[in-house]
Amino acid sequence: MSTAISPTAYNYKVVRQFAIMTVVWGILGMGLGVFIASQLVWPELNFGLAWTSFGRLRPLHTNLVIFAFGGCALFATSYYVVQRTCQTRLISDSLAAFTFWGWQAVIVGAIVTLPMGFTTTKEYAELEWPLAILLAIVWVTYGLVFFGTIVKRKTKHIYVGNWFYGAFIVVTAMLHIVNHASLPVSFFKSYSAYSGATDAMIQWWYGHNAVGFFLTTGFLGMMYYFVPKQAERPIYSYRLSIVHFWALITLYIWAGPHHLHYTALPDWAQSLGMAMSIILLAPSWGGMINGMMTLSGAWHKLRTDPILRFLVVSLAFYGMSTFEGPMMAIKTVNSLSHYTDWTIGHVHAGALGWVAMISIGAIYHMIPKLFGRTQMHSIGLINTHFWLATIGTVLYIASMWVNGITQGLMWRAINDDGTLTYSFVEALQASHPGFIVRALGGAFFASGMLFMAYNVWRTVRASNPAEAKAAEQIAVVGAH
Ligand code: HEM
Ligand code: HEM
Repeated sequence: MSTAISPTAYNYKVVRQFAIMTVVWGILGMGLGVFIASQLVWPELNFGLAWTSFGRLRPLHTNLVIFAFGGCALFATSYYVVQRTCQTRLISDSLAAFTFWGWQAVIVGAIVTLPMGFTTTKEYAELEWPLAILLAIVWVTYGLVFFGTIVKRKTKHIYVGNWFYGAFIVVTAMLHIVNHASLPVSFFKSYSAYSGATDAMIQWWYGHNAVGFFLTTGFLGMMYYFVPKQAERPIYSYRLSIVHFWALITLYIWAGPHHLHYTALPDWAQSLGMAMSIILLAPSWGGMINGMMTLSGAWHKLRTDPILRFLVVSLAFYGMSTFEGPMMAIKTVNSLSHYTDWTIGHVHAGALGWVAMISIGAIYHMIPKLFGRTQMHSIGLINTHFWLATIGTVLYIASMWVNGITQGLMWRAINDDGTLTYSFVEALQASHPGFIVRALGGAFFASGMLFMAYNVWRTVRASNPAEAKAAEQIAVVGAH
């Protein structure tokens, strides 16, 4: 078999843009996370202003970390993976550029409108209708670029990572469009097309699948490409990856009602959500094991390769949060955990441990390749980042477990005469030490991102334009 250079080259420009913005938004979104965590320790940090109050900055944090940081990581890696595994250039450079600038415009729109208090009030879908429409247009364009590239592929086969990215793109479009159906009454105010329990159910069908498809399926696409690449081993079981794919996408979509236990939602729907959540453990762990076992025979690489460590530890946190989630979906457990910091701990086990860590590993893998370098400027700094991120995540989730269980038990404690043993404020006081530890853990995690920014900047600065251009060439294996 011989290797030839194809006359066309990959479009790495858009990948570079999204990769750099992942780091920028990561710092801003996580920095804001540390700020709102500090507001819960020192309420004075609300500054008595509406724009800087916790209630307005919290949704800005979630939008920045999920859609800006996570979204840019997904765009960057999916454009990189689809081109390399299909051995072809993106179908359209201008449409790809539109997705980049359009996505940044939505994020800037969020940064302006959320602190001003413009919100639909639906969690993770707060952006008002003009921005929601822009987002929908960008997303449909993304789908066109991604699937168009798959259609013009030079390979016979569609690599499994692309299946995961594809499902993430299709389902996110569906969720966003259905959940956002609303009636605008002014430029910045709209009312949901649904009402009452139906509205709640549609919102959490959206909310849970935002977790399932945006924060999980897309990142699994990342896992299926970057773990084997970095470990230099083929994926442990290709057959398992296909079973994993179909089982995951079939089950996730039914689990939303576990966010609405003990509400006005019909009881059968709550029980269905609980049952589906428990079954979801199986495909989640199947995928995690497939990723982990890819390291068979390559475990020793973890000693010297901090990028691989990021990827593997992210899988460990994925396994942990997808064990914890089904447990929390059991109604009796949920009656303790709901409304408490336990949920917040679960969220960040997934968000910091899984989503952020796998993205960071993938970006470190890609940056040298995108800028024509052999490796990152400093491997030592990647290692420092790895420890800051790991210790930060552990501090965050451990403090929230302690707080969550303390709050749940204090709220339900009753005296013999039926009155409450503790007032709400007493439970809040008991949570204070945990809030301090969480802010500290967040500061660890966010400071690691600053090391990353410096390392990326030094790598990019050392980039040689000719080598960067050469890196874009498509080497077609098997050509004559
Ligand atoms: C330095 C890192 C971070 C810190 C310090 C931090 C801090 C916080 C804080 C204080 C809250 C509000 C908790 C409450 O209302 O009691 C929060 C909520 C949230 N954060 Fe973060 N965060 C960080 C990173 C991230 C990342 C990387 C993601 C996603 C990829 C994320 C996703 C979320 C989500 C989804 C919520 C809402 C949770 C819910 O409503 O149950 N965070 N974060
Ligand atoms: C098998 C997998 C999973 C199941 C069954 C599951 C289940 C749950 C349950 C029962 C809750 C609490 C609902 C409540 O009491 O309000 C929850 C909350 C949440 N989970 Fe998971 N989880 C899973 C995986 C994940 C992963 C991997 C992530 C992140 C990447 C994640 C992110 C979230 C978020 C953001 C919330 C908070 C939603 C909100 O109230 O704002 N989950 N999950």
